[in-house]
Amino acid sequence: MKKKKVNTNILNSPDRIKERKRLNKENVFVDFKLDESLKDMGKGKSYYIYTYGCQENESDSEKIRGLLESVGYTEKLVLEEADVLVLNTCAIRKNAEDKVFGELGRLKQLKRERPEIVTIVCGCMAQEQDAVNLITKRYQNVDIVLGTHNIHDILGLIKKCYDKKERLVDVLSYEGDIVENVPMVRQSKIKAWVPIMYGCDEFCTYCIVPYTRGKERSRLPENILKEVNELVEKGYKEITLLGQNVNAYGKDFTDRSYDFADLLTDLHNTKIERIRFTTSNPKDFDDKQVKAMALGGNIMPQLHLPVQSGSNEVLKRMNRRYTRETYLSLVKKIKEAIPNISLTTDIIVAFPGETEEQFEETLSLVKECDYEGAFTFIYSPREGTPAASYTEQVPEDAAHERLYKLNELINEGYKKGSMRFLNTIQKVLIEGESKNDPNMLMGYNENGKLINVKGDKSLIGKIVNVKVTEAKTWSLDGEYVE
Ligand code: SAH
Ligand code: SF4
Ligand code: F3S
Repeated sequence: MKKKKVNTNILNSPDRIKERKRLNKENVFVDFKLDESLKDMGKGKSYYIYTYGCQENESDSEKIRGLLESVGYTEKLVLEEADVLVLNTCAIRKNAEDKVFGELGRLKQLKRERPEIVTIVCGCMAQEQDAVNLITKRYQNVDIVLGTHNIHDILGLIKKCYDKKERLVDVLSYEGDIVENVPMVRQSKIKAWVPIMYGCDEFCTYCIVPYTRGKERSRLPENILKEVNELVEKGYKEITLLGQNVNAYGKDFTDRSYDFADLLTDLHNTKIERIRFTTSNPKDFDDKQVKAMALGGNIMPQLHLPVQSGSNEVLKRMNRRYTRETYLSLVKKIKEAIPNISLTTDIIVAFPGETEEQFEETLSLVKECDYEGAFTFIYSPREGTPAASYTEQVPEDAAHERLYKLNELINEGYKKGSMRFLNTIQKVLIEGESKNDPNMLMGYNENGKLINVKGDKSLIGKIVNVKVTEAKTWSLDGEYVE
């Protein structure tokens, strides 16, 4: 018997033109309230969640967990057994999307076996017109497509899907609200993500994020401080502040003058033991912020400072709005202020039109900065971004060759960044058992280097002294010392 085709109800669909608009509208703050009629909708049911992409998605997934569990769903670790499947997706490069389509293809069989499963695609891919068209046409196993701006509507949409037996697309293309008090189930009891702002207004010419995440908008400092103080009360030891450009925090406030340096200083005065943040944009990293970072103490000596390219010509076409020279002078200032700092970066090779000489300039900048790590990428054209229509795309062979050369250099940096800790005593926040060896513990030192530690399980959740006995490229080994 031929299966009846399910109706697709498009409530809102993504629109790239609207996503690009920045109307300088003031921030809209919303307090989440659970609709009483949904209170028990998940009783006896379970969910499974996949999280792709960056920390922002990790943090959103904690809210999705919180929402689902607030109405009775429980988390399943085996996806075949779950009643609701959530794919929280990433659109940053083509291979990120390919992974999701691959998984959706595999899930078709499961949907045939258990048609009552509700499959939800959310995250950045849901904000893309082409991806959504493909999903609604070819992936009949997807029941709900939900954008990044309304994840807090997930429960109502699932209910609608149960009641009406139809597929739903609800993707808003607007500047985004700031929704506070969304319930959250955090992944760790030791370390927490704390978003301080949402969206991005930078419009780097290669990047999809300003379209998928909307306008740059900052949470109010009082809400951030309240959240951090509550985390301290619950025993959390470390926070990572999240934003696509944390250095622009507060620039959108109209009722006060309060910036990232002020926030760092206020957080420095709380009882949280470790503060990290990501991601920094060199263009907005000013002297006041360097000074705030240099307060030290609970502000960790670690900085991820994406450079993307060492060539001024390329940086200009990327619309990064800083130069090689201003970047290097910022790095110098930071290293003078925080001599022990571990610096890491992001680099894109084979941006359209990048010449061999321009790539060499990236290599020379890497040498000059002494990075202790980096995420390196081959440029991936993203539909609707300016760079996707630039001519002179670099041939694939040359791109791979450049990536290989760059990674060799970066790996030397990783190794050097490990060696400097050999035979020293490091303060390590012990997070749990080591992945590769259940007899060992693992954690990170203040500089963000992974350490496998010989010690008793009672150390989990504590910051302890560890003597580093071996330095490998990607990690350190050490022993607990009193
Ligand atoms: N907001 C952060 C990072 C966001 S995306 C920042 O500006 O630093 C993480 C990294 O992905 C970027 O730093 C960049 O190196 C890379 N990236 C973004 N778009 C890309 C694309 N189209 N192709 C390849 N790499 C990309
Ligand atoms: Fe993308 Fe640039 Fe914004 Fe980072 S700062 S998210 S690279 S547009
Ligand atoms: Fe990916 Fe969106 Fe983050 S595109 S990197 S999940 S902001």
